[in-house]
Amino acid sequence: MTRQQRNILVTSALPYANGPIHLGHLVEYIQTDIWVRFQKMRGHTCYYVCADDAHGTPIMLKAEQEGITPEQLIERVGEEHRRDFADFAIRFDNYYTTHSSENKAIVEAIYLRLRETGHIERRVIRQAFDPEKKMFLPDRYIRGECPKCGAPDQYGDNCEVCGATYDPTELKNPVSAVSGATPIEKESEHYFFKLSDFEDMLREWVKAGHLQPEVANKLEEWFEVGLEDWDISRDAPYFGFEIPDAPGKYFYVWLDAPIGYFASFRHLCDREGIDFDAFLKPGSDAEMYHFIGKDIIRFHGLFWPAVLAGSGFRTPTAIFAHGFLTVNGQKMSKSRGTFIMARTYLDHLDPEYLRYYFAGKLGSGIDDLDLNLEDFQLRVNSDLVGKVVNIASRCAGFIHKRFSGRLGRTTENTALLSAMQAATDSIAQAYEEREYAKAMREIMALADQVNQYIDERKPWVIAKQAGSEDELQAICTTGLNAFKILMTCLKPVLPLMAGKVEAFLNTEPLCWSSIDQLLLEHEISAFKPLMVRVEEKAIHAMLEDSKQTMESAAEKTVSKILTEEPIGDEISYDEFAKVDLRIARILKAEEVEGADKLLRLTLDIGEQRNVFAGIKSAYKPEELEGKLTVMVANLAPRKMRFGLSEGMVLAAGPGGKDLFLLHPDEGAAPGMRVK
Ligand code: MSP
Ligand code: ZN
Repeated sequence: MTRQQRNILVTSALPYANGPIHLGHLVEYIQTDIWVRFQKMRGHTCYYVCADDAHGTPIMLKAEQEGITPEQLIERVGEEHRRDFADFAIRFDNYYTTHSSENKAIVEAIYLRLRETGHIERRVIRQAFDPEKKMFLPDRYIRGECPKCGAPDQYGDNCEVCGATYDPTELKNPVSAVSGATPIEKESEHYFFKLSDFEDMLREWVKAGHLQPEVANKLEEWFEVGLEDWDISRDAPYFGFEIPDAPGKYFYVWLDAPIGYFASFRHLCDREGIDFDAFLKPGSDAEMYHFIGKDIIRFHGLFWPAVLAGSGFRTPTAIFAHGFLTVNGQKMSKSRGTFIMARTYLDHLDPEYLRYYFAGKLGSGIDDLDLNLEDFQLRVNSDLVGKVVNIASRCAGFIHKRFSGRLGRTTENTALLSAMQAATDSIAQAYEEREYAKAMREIMALADQVNQYIDERKPWVIAKQAGSEDELQAICTTGLNAFKILMTCLKPVLPLMAGKVEAFLNTEPLCWSSIDQLLLEHEISAFKPLMVRVEEKAIHAMLEDSKQTMESAAEKTVSKILTEEPIGDEISYDEFAKVDLRIARILKAEEVEGADKLLRLTLDIGEQRNVFAGIKSAYKPEELEGKLTVMVANLAPRKMRFGLSEGMVLAAGPGGKDLFLLHPDEGAAPGMRVK
């Protein structure tokens, strides 16, 4: 069978250079790495490039907080990222940074091209401005009370309590999260990319099958709402590239980030003499794929193809979006220790356990996937250790002890081996289509067949029979050849183990075209353990460690927002007297599924009340049960996303762990009026 050799450029989204890699990120990098390794094993030319996303306000502010320059910060984080990726066997052909001369050059070229062709417009907009810090505030740096439900300390664009989305100007009592000052509104000229110029092109593009169906639907929704121009500039102070002919104006990080894919590729091309233009010019027969999370579809499915089309580049062959990681069925949580950093995992567990587990869960869709730690242990132990490695350890001993490490002249069950060889086509197709879970199932079904064969042939019995040397050697030779096929199929997922197997079987690097080659009359090397079992105590140690890492990080970020809050406007005594404060006993406190900050409290004030309180960061539910607190009893009930809230409990503090419920003396009785 001859297959056409393909030229493929692959990217993963560029992680922000302001924090460490966590297991959620790894879903994406592992998914991409498996696909790239598979393509390479098929003999295609495939380049995998990535970089740190180094620009933007959060990075600028984080550096400032740490008292270092942004350059120092991105340098340090860049090194950590590289180390984490390398230790998870994620093998980029190039890993770069968006803060590079290559990126600056391509960004400017693209921008000038868009400007020349009339796709850039300037317009004055009004925006929140921090008068103390003298900077415009991105939405996430404005906090205040939700205009819909009144929940305190919400982000500038959406409420975590009731789920409302709004404009930051609608927030009540807004404060700047940077300085604590009350933001003012200020005008400034911004640069816009006229996305609507590309509506026809985008509609065509979406129809042409470059997107997963769920993603294409999302785009259809956006078309329906209408394409708005995209604001691509930010005012100083900003860490990024200055816009040509516009002093004090910078490119928005999301403009230069995807262009960072090209800059990383350019850097690789220059180093290795690859033809950059051949991959990226319109009409190129090279393929280009972007693996991304579903949260950044808008940038890759809408803005990016339009920017490319408008600046004389090819558009992506496809965008492959994936879902989000949950741990034990819930959003990753710092307090439960399930917000696990790549490094924390590596301190306790083998990276290939996770690669295999994710592969076993990944399909081509955008569904979220769950890391269930019990299932993780079971799956890895039963599949990899119990099924796959077991085959090698059952056969290798005899080959060494009885045949001085030499495989036999023939295999005995040729039907099994040829069936396995034939099955690799379907496995390859599953990899190609990113249906890794299907590939893993098919591989494990083959492993079951091989184990069954060994169980039936019982080499340990035959070994004791006189004159059965040839038979014994043939069985073990069959088993090890089957093992070689399995490990070839698993190599995109388990490259480190495959490397050990290549040394053990004493072969060239396993690849798809060598699946049909049997190892006969061939000397193998000593068998060393290929993988050990996942221990439950290692998982526990990781969770503990994770909890502690998170706690010490949280202590470092002291919120100074609410402590500096100015005293509010005067109210009359009558207004005050309207507030009916009551002593309440907390009968029950429970976590609320899907809410980061909320606890559901069942309160007794003579009658029972259901109240949602944003105090989860400070209290464990079980600490609260039975305690007294003070509540506003005559607040109009409010419908929240999670149910009806019938009042409010009183708490004080800047937030996070430092949030204090009022605890009246135990002498007080539920229902008592507070005056
Ligand atoms: N810097 C942008 C991407 C720019 S691409 C030109 C960004 N960075 S990120 O660090 O927040 O995320 C990097 C990738 O990891 C994104 O594709 C994101 O969807 C993915 N993930 C981050 N957290 C994730 C989970 N919890 N689960 C799965 N993927 C997640 O976005
Ligand atoms: Zn709200």
